[in-house]
Amino acid sequence: MSRFWSPIVHSLIPYVAGEQPTTGGITKLNTNESPYGPSPLALEAISKAASDTLRLYPDPTARELRMAIAESFGLDKDEVFVGNGSDEVLAHTFQALLNHEEPLLFPDITYSFYLTYCRLYGITFRQVPVEAEMRVRLDDYRQPCGAIILPNPNAPTGIGLPLADIESLLKAHPDQVVVIDEAYVDFGGESAVSLVRSYPNLLVIQTLSKSRGLAGLRVGFAVGQRPLIEALERVKDSFNSYPLDRLAQAGAVAAWKDRDWFERHRAMIIASRERLAAALAELGFHVLPSSANFLFARHPSRPGAELAAELRSRNILVRRFSAERIDDFLRISIGTDEECDRLVAALGEILH
Ligand SMILES: Cc1ncc(COP(=O)(O)O)c(C=O)c1O
Repeated sequence: MSRFWSPIVHSLIPYVAGEQPTTGGITKLNTNESPYGPSPLALEAISKAASDTLRLYPDPTARELRMAIAESFGLDKDEVFVGNGSDEVLAHTFQALLNHEEPLLFPDITYSFYLTYCRLYGITFRQVPVEAEMRVRLDDYRQPCGAIILPNPNAPTGIGLPLADIESLLKAHPDQVVVIDEAYVDFGGESAVSLVRSYPNLLVIQTLSKSRGLAGLRVGFAVGQRPLIEALERVKDSFNSYPLDRLAQAGAVAAWKDRDWFERHRAMIIASRERLAAALAELGFHVLPSSANFLFARHPSRPGAELAAELRSRNILVRRFSAERIDDFLRISIGTDEECDRLVAALGEILH
């Protein structure tokens, strides 16, 4: 605390990112990164971009990347907005589209950055409780509101909603923006991108951090009809004209176009997830059904904090949240099969 702070800083609740260890020898299953390095074509493009052209500012409009994304979805580049990780895209979305007189609705168990943005931008919000089995119940969103944001699949539960449910939510709220945060959609969820042309109130946000193995490059994007995208551009150009550097733009274009790498690696992660879910169930864990690159699991006889600490002492990192209702759950990112085996062996040792 300091007398030099602007008043708002006192009321912020900063997001706490998962641990990024600085030493080797750690099995890192705590921040939902891909266990596989990105497409070699992306690495090649980044190397090529690391040249004397770095003295020049990057394209402020990231035209080529927006075109590549738009083309793959059958959209126009002006229906795509890109940013420095989907966190930045989300931040601009909260400021540009979600701050209204009526409250913004989102689940009580969800991505904790939403609460952080509400504090940062002074947004009125209401958290809608998920049901006992941690599912989002869409009927609970049939209430007056300023806007809605839902991750699909939800985080940290991993539970997905069918596209038909998202469409009925859009129909029920024609005068409110509905944001679907699809950070994990490539691991078995149903994307709402196909609904963008039909619903002017829909904004879909995705990232290259997870299914493209590029968390370190910081690239995310939103797709929506032109008026929504224009609002994001107005905020972006009032904040930072160049959120994506030359390396990020080059790497992201190449990664996006490498469908073969993408399809192969997401299939590997889904297969590892199913394998790990079965092994955890065998150890007595209650594992929520996941459509993401992580599992959310609780053991009936051991507190989550104790399990996480025991794993940490064995150099295995998983994520645990201290919020009510989920404090006994571990959120386990899907690693390689070898990393998952290491986790299962350690848990077997701890539990028996
Ligand atoms: C639900 C959700 N949305 C968005 C993000 C942000 O991802 P990034 O900023 O790496 O694109 C995350 C990151 O873990 C997430 O869990």
